[in-house]
Amino acid sequence: MSLLIRGGKAFLGDRFEQKDILIEDGRIVSVGNSLKGDETVKAAGMLVLPGLIDPHVHLREPGDTYKEDFATGSRAAIVGGFTTVIDMPNNAIPTTTKARLDEKIALAKKKAVCDVLFHFGGTDDNFSEVKKADPASLKLYLGQTTGGLVLRQPFSLEKHLINFPKDRPVVLHACDHAENEDENLKNTYSNLENALGLAAKLGRKVHLAHASTGKEIQIARRYARCTIEVAPHHLFLTTFDIERLGPYAKVYPPLRSEQKQIGLWAALDTVDCIATDHAPHTVEDKERGAAGFPGLETSLSLMLTGCRRGLIDKIWVAQRMTERVADIFNIPGKGKLQAGFIGDVTIVDPRKKWKVDATELETKCKWTPFDGMELTGKVHTVVKGGEILFEKYQLLV
Ligand code: DOR
Ligand code: ZN
Repeated sequence: MSLLIRGGKAFLGDRFEQKDILIEDGRIVSVGNSLKGDETVKAAGMLVLPGLIDPHVHLREPGDTYKEDFATGSRAAIVGGFTTVIDMPNNAIPTTTKARLDEKIALAKKKAVCDVLFHFGGTDDNFSEVKKADPASLKLYLGQTTGGLVLRQPFSLEKHLINFPKDRPVVLHACDHAENEDENLKNTYSNLENALGLAAKLGRKVHLAHASTGKEIQIARRYARCTIEVAPHHLFLTTFDIERLGPYAKVYPPLRSEQKQIGLWAALDTVDCIATDHAPHTVEDKERGAAGFPGLETSLSLMLTGCRRGLIDKIWVAQRMTERVADIFNIPGKGKLQAGFIGDVTIVDPRKKWKVDATELETKCKWTPFDGMELTGKVHTVVKGGEILFEKYQLLV
C-alpha cells in the first residue's frame, strides 16, 4: 500500500512549493507533481511539513506517571504535529544508568505512539555509566530544577565534557533557580560562560537548552560549536502573566520581563531550533509550587501565530522544528521531505483559527498557561512511517 499526500505546499528546506509526496513501505519514495498512489490524503491549501521533532520533552515515565506517561505524552506529541521527541532524564527515577535507560526504552517501545529518543543524565559519579550506555546525547544540569539532577562537584562538568564523544551534543541546562531576576540572570550567564569556555578549549559540540534572553543567546553565539534552542512560552509569556497565572506561571528558566522578551525576539534569528520543553505537572503539584508547562499541543500553533503577526517567517519556523533538530541531534532519515527519508509528515491548516481549551488536551495534566488563547494555524493530519495517526483534527490511535 502506498500513501499519496496530494496538492499541498510542501516544505523543501528553503521554500514551500506545491508538490505531492508519495510514501511506500514507510519511506518517502517521491516528491513531485501529478504522482499516483493507492490511498490519497488531500492537502490542497495546507502546509506539508516533515514530521516535527521536539528535542526537549519530559514524559515523566518511569517515576511520575500520575503527571504524564509515554502513552499520553506521545499522543500529545502527535496532536501537536511531532512524530519524534527527545525525552529528558530528570525523572523521579533519573535516567543516569544504562539499566534505567534500557528500562525507559522498553517502556516507550510498548506505549508510545510517536518515536521517542532519550537524553542521558550526567551526575557527579556516573562517568562509567555514561560510557556503558553510550547515549546519543548527554544532559548536564548546571542549576537546580525538577528532580534534583544537578552537578554539585567543581570538576564534574569538565570531566563529562572531556569524556563524552565530541560530535554528540552535551545539552546544557545553564539556568539558575534563584527567584530574584538579577541574581538569576547573573548566575545563569556565569554558568553558561564557564561551560562554553571549557567546551571551546576541548572543541566539543554543546547545545544550550531553553535560552530565555537575548543576552544568553549572544553569549552562546560567541562559541561556534554551541547550538541554541528557545521555547515558545518564553516568546509568548512574560512576568506580566504571573498576575493572571499565579503559581501556574512557575517555570525554569522563569518568565522574563517584557523588555527581556523583546530582546529574545530580536535575537531569535540566530537560534537553531524551537523546543517545547513540555514539562507537565498536575494542578495539585502546580498549586504546591512545581515548575514547568505542557507545550506539545500549543507550540507549533504559537509559532504560526507569530508568523501571522509578521514576527517571524514560516520557512524559519519549519527549519527549526524539523531538519535543524535532526542535524543537531544526529537523527538519520528524519526532518526532510525527500526520497529515502522516513515517511513522517505533518499537514497543517495555516488559516485555521482555534481557541486553546485545556480540557481538550491529550496531556495528562489537562491545564495550560495558554488556556483561552486564540491561535491561527493548526495541525490537520499526521503521518508517521506512512501510517495516518491523526486525521482531520482527530487522533486515530
Ligand atoms: O520548569 C521546568 N520544568 N524546567 C526544567 O528545567 C525542568 C522541568 C520539569 O521537569 O518539570
Ligand atoms: Zn526541560
